Amino acid sequence: MAETPAVRLSGARLSFGDRTLWEGLDLEAAAGEFIAVLGPNGSGKTSMLRMLLGQVALSAGTAEVAGSPARLGNPAIGYVPQQKTIEGGAQLRGVDLVGLGVDGHRWGIGFRGRKERKRKVAEAISAVGAEKFAYAPLDALSGGEQQRLRVAQALAGDPRVLLCDEPLLSLDLANQRLVSELIDRRRRTHDTAVLFVTHEINPILPLVDRVLYLVDGQFRIGTPDEVMTSETLSELYGTEVDVLRVRGRLVVVGTGDAMDALGESGAAHCHGSTGKNHGEREARA
Ligand SMILES: Nc1ncnc2c1ncn2[C@@H]1O[C@H](COP(=O)(O)OP(=O)(O)OP(=O)(O)O)[C@@H](O)[C@H]1O
Ligand SMILES: [Mg+2]
Repeated sequence: MAETPAVRLSGARLSFGDRTLWEGLDLEAAAGEFIAVLGPNGSGKTSMLRMLLGQVALSAGTAEVAGSPARLGNPAIGYVPQQKTIEGGAQLRGVDLVGLGVDGHRWGIGFRGRKERKRKVAEAISAVGAEKFAYAPLDALSGGEQQRLRVAQALAGDPRVLLCDEPLLSLDLANQRLVSELIDRRRRTHDTAVLFVTHEINPILPLVDRVLYLVDGQFRIGTPDEVMTSETLSELYGTEVDVLRVRGRLVVVGTGDAMDALGESGAAHCHGSTGKNHGEREARA
């Protein structure tokens, strides 16, 4: 018997008023699959995650998570939200944050419940290597340390599906690697499916099974080799875009207009290894 997909979208459409973010979307994410969700600002990436979390309803079609319709409070989902300062960071410690991730499961009160909760929290903290700073106030921690604890919180409930919204934002290269590797390890050891929203595919390129690329109501789904090509991206953006492969990294190059269409303002992002100039940028959606 075929396994129930971790996520299944059929004919999915999401519109706000008369604006359609995406439609006709069919997607089955298998257990353990790593899917990158790319697209310019406002293309509906966060909205897709919120829809799977049951916070936003589809306008047409169906969405299932681990075999049942998308709904609020689904313990099959772990969620790393788009980064912002953690509220109450002066009072809250990492262990408290991770504990909130376990409580979604309601272990019940009583000695056994408390013991089980403690075990789950310790396991999640150790999985992200956060033992050293889990008892410090959150607002005393670096961005990378906070982000590791967020991932621990999302994983503490042992989810079938992990939804991550730009989890590498504002992390340095070492922490980008650390956070993406621990997410990758999890999906390999626990068969957790991963939907990973990002503007920069390069840090996760070796991990990605498939890419879902959203642009202005259109989308493409396929392996990075299928989607991240000059031809496909030019079609999607409706303007000439070149995708170069430089030492295992993707660099998206466009003319002035194409650069605007890529949706990010500011200069090209350069991590020093590709020697880009201002006419080029890393594969940022
Ligand atoms: N509840 C809502 N009601 C109306 N419009 C909404 C709602 N939620 C999101 N939108 C709009 O839908 C569009 C897509 O938003 P979304 O946050 O999904 O984009 P995104 O792809 O995550 O962008 P970014 O890269 O900037 O995070 C935006 O124009 C947003 O203003
Ligand atoms: Mg977003």
